[in-house]
Amino acid sequence: MEHPRVLVVDDDASVRESLRMVLKGRAHVTAVADGTAALKELTNGSFHVALLDLVMPGMDGLELLERGQALDDPPQFIMLTATKTVKTAVRAMKLGAFDYITKPFDVDELQVVVDRAAESGAMQRELETLRTEVGQRYDFANVIGSSQAMQKVLKIVKRVAPLRSTVLLTGESGTGKEVIARAIHYNSPRRDQPLVALNCAAIPQNLLEAELFGHERGAFTDAHARKIGHFERAHGGTIFLDEIGDMPPSTQATLLRILERGEFTRVGGEEVIEVDVRVVAATNRDLDKSMEDGSFRSDLYFRLNVVALPLPPLRERREDLPLLIRHFLEKKSREAGLPLRNFTQAALDRMLAYRWPGNVRELENAIERALALSDRDALDIDDLPTKVVAAPDLAASPLTLPVGNEGTSAGSQAHSMSDQVDALERQLIVTALHRADYNQTRAAEDLGTTRRILKYKMDKLGIDETPGSESQFSSGA
Ligand SMILES: Nc1ncnc2c1ncn2[C@@H]1O[C@H](COP(=O)(O)OP(=O)(O)OP(=O)(O)O)[C@@H](O)[C@H]1O
Ligand SMILES: [Mg+2]
Repeated sequence: MEHPRVLVVDDDASVRESLRMVLKGRAHVTAVADGTAALKELTNGSFHVALLDLVMPGMDGLELLERGQALDDPPQFIMLTATKTVKTAVRAMKLGAFDYITKPFDVDELQVVVDRAAESGAMQRELETLRTEVGQRYDFANVIGSSQAMQKVLKIVKRVAPLRSTVLLTGESGTGKEVIARAIHYNSPRRDQPLVALNCAAIPQNLLEAELFGHERGAFTDAHARKIGHFERAHGGTIFLDEIGDMPPSTQATLLRILERGEFTRVGGEEVIEVDVRVVAATNRDLDKSMEDGSFRSDLYFRLNVVALPLPPLRERREDLPLLIRHFLEKKSREAGLPLRNFTQAALDRMLAYRWPGNVRELENAIERALALSDRDALDIDDLPTKVVAAPDLAASPLTLPVGNEGTSAGSQAHSMSDQVDALERQLIVTALHRADYNQTRAAEDLGTTRRILKYKMDKLGIDETPGSESQFSSGA
């Protein structure tokens, strides 16, 4: 940290001078003789630390402390006191002063206290900025999703966030696993403690263990110094283990031991370290398959899967699209300092009909791109990525559609013609319903049929009258 700016307030000129001397070369010192001058300085300049004499003619140290603290961005206050006024100094501490020093002061003590005050102030400011930023970012209001499937997810998130339970988030790429992991942490009692995220797929397998648990000096060739691992850094808070399906078996075994015992040793070390860490894990792999082929330990799976939170792909909660589009239009325009624009109806229809294999992330990128590249007043179809424009409608590609309630089979199995017809019909109806806000009369009109026939088909195909039925959502909670 650069030299802190320190304000000295004392009516005694010799005290001001000696403080200047003592702090020379370690702080930028401004010195004034009374409370009024001090308040003026505090209002104008930003100080990191203020040293206040308690007993001064006019405004005394306590009053100055109270008024100073009411200012925007106040410094850390240190009270200077003669031994006989120590009681008052203690009162000052209760009022929020950082510390007090008795006169005549000890040079080393004074320097240490000033340094600590400056550091503590810097940390507080940093924390506050982070907290506001983060708090806004991971407030539930910013997790968009009014579909039944997302409402179900959010309900579970709210219920489990305050607990210590391990959560396993699954879902395709871009479905919002990280968003939810953060929402869990920032809505838990651990929100002021660290959230440490580690992407298990991004770190070479042979280094992962040391990243997670740290290592002692000399544990392996490149271990020149002791290193604190992610688990230790997350103490009191949450660790987000992203892409857990990519964790090698040896590391899985170590992780399992931590989850069972709450303790571990650093690589190459003996000392047993206890940690209190909540684990939130995520993967877009099919862990059932990984367990079958032996690449993922089932005992670890059951430890992690205490609360299972599968995130539905965007194509299964298409009713969230309008809200998400609006959200990203607003957010991206604001971030880029651009005026708010909308999509044309044609572009919106195209977006509603597209499959979004990259889920929310793909949508977000498409919107950001359109805003950046187009100078039209209303963004149109050809402002969208070619992929989105050229892809067949979700409703017109039966071979890649879900059949029945079994989720997406992506054409991997041979289906009979009637299965395919059913799938196509089902998708047409669901899409029409979504567009009509589940108003069956309007959906029927849109499909060129009657409400009675629509209702008959819905019953036959098992389509619910309210949104969310086609989601695969289920919870192991
Ligand atoms: N419900 C949501 N509301 C608002 N934004 C969302 C939502 N879901 C996802 N996003 C946004 O979409 C992007 C992708 O989300 P996120 O990184 O959480 O996905 P992921 O599931 O972790 O993907 P991957 O498996 O590829 O890592 C992010 O920019 C995120 O802000
Ligand atoms: Mg992710």
